[in-house]
Amino acid sequence: MPSTVEQVRLDLPHIAGPVPGPRAADIIARDNAVVSPSYTRGYPLVARQGSGAIIEDVDGNRFLDFNAGIAVVSTGHCHPEVVGAIQEQAARLIHMSGTDFYYEELAALAEKLAAIAPGAVPRRVSFGNSGAEAIEGAIKLARYATGRDKIIAFYGSFHGRTMGALSLTSRKAVQRAGFAPFMPGVVHATYPNPYRTPAGQDPDRYAVECVKHIEDVILKTIAPAEETAAIVVEPVQGEGGYVVPPKIFFDELARVCKANGILLIFDEVQSGMGRTGRMFAAEHFGAVPDIIAVAKGIASGMPLGATIARADLMTWPPGAHASTFGGNPVCCAAALKTIELLERELIDNAARMGTYMMERLRLWPARYPMVGDVRGLGLMIGVELVRDQQTKEKAPKLRDRVVDLAFERGLLILGAGDNTIRLCPPLVITRDQCDFALDILEQCLRATS
Ligand SMILES: Cc1ncc(COP(=O)(O)O)c(C=O)c1O
Repeated sequence: MPSTVEQVRLDLPHIAGPVPGPRAADIIARDNAVVSPSYTRGYPLVARQGSGAIIEDVDGNRFLDFNAGIAVVSTGHCHPEVVGAIQEQAARLIHMSGTDFYYEELAALAEKLAAIAPGAVPRRVSFGNSGAEAIEGAIKLARYATGRDKIIAFYGSFHGRTMGALSLTSRKAVQRAGFAPFMPGVVHATYPNPYRTPAGQDPDRYAVECVKHIEDVILKTIAPAEETAAIVVEPVQGEGGYVVPPKIFFDELARVCKANGILLIFDEVQSGMGRTGRMFAAEHFGAVPDIIAVAKGIASGMPLGATIARADLMTWPPGAHASTFGGNPVCCAAALKTIELLERELIDNAARMGTYMMERLRLWPARYPMVGDVRGLGLMIGVELVRDQQTKEKAPKLRDRVVDLAFERGLLILGAGDNTIRLCPPLVITRDQCDFALDILEQCLRATS
């Protein structure tokens, strides 16, 4: 039997004509006339089909996808084993509504998620359809289980666009502008970015100080400890720029939470499901969150979100929380197969390919003056571009230019944060594809200097 990786296309990009080609241009014009203008399309890619890390557009151009549908298609586009599981399930039972009826796929997936969640803690699982819904479930459960209303989140975070999740989000003004009032009781704290510590301060010390501010100021003033239900944190800040804080940050957060009866919620929507080379990013830090929100990579592109909680917290009564579609049988089947492939081979591949790329990327700040920082875990890698390595002045326009140039050369990447290039390919990526992506990126950096 071919390995998990060998079952998908392993070839390299080929740009046959100008992009966008005529078919793409036509679809973009139709889309522009009727689709919400709130979508943030950067370059004009019109996807038609995909396999592994290769996406073909409607004009026959082939691209290497280093976005994975924004960290979603963990097993690659249309992995045959995932497609098979979806087809088999769809032919048998598409929907039943887990809110009111039983089916085995829901129980099996909850068992699996409870078993793989960090820490030897009994868990229960509630299902929704997206990352935002997984966060809504976490917020509601934290309030319900503690009887407290305040929530602490972090600047630069992205937790989704529904009203509760948006109230925690503090990534870009445009995401909140015009939508007030937000959910009351949310307070934001500083997320320790090791590359941007004040006046060259040691990253560990800075991380400790960030938590001290929560402990000594926030919990003693605007969010009194006895009123605070939870601290919600991304273990690796995703939309905020692929920022990896020091381990001590999570040790300290756990200490403060434990001392004050506050729940620690990890948003693993982007960092979870094998992307960082471990099933959950929490494992890199030895963290055991009380509640974990997952979505994106969980079902290889089928819409599914899950709130995984300590079993002794998830005691809310029938009717307190549920979703008609959440955890429908087809999404559950896709998730079970996805997790099987992750455990069989793909988490290891993510760790290996991440290390492989990092060995090369690590040399870039010395080689390219516009590369300020390179960081990441597994296949969650950020390359931060600056105007000056000394002042660290951000270079957002340069970053956007590199993203566009890469597209013209057949590499699909996106930004994260104001000035960082995000590399989050599917976990089926090969060495040749990694080499291709980094070669193209180097060409683009040289073309802009
Ligand atoms: C960390 C994190 N949480 C939550 C979300 C929201 O997920 P969704 O778009 O599925 O609602 C995202 C989406 O980018 C995310 O990156």
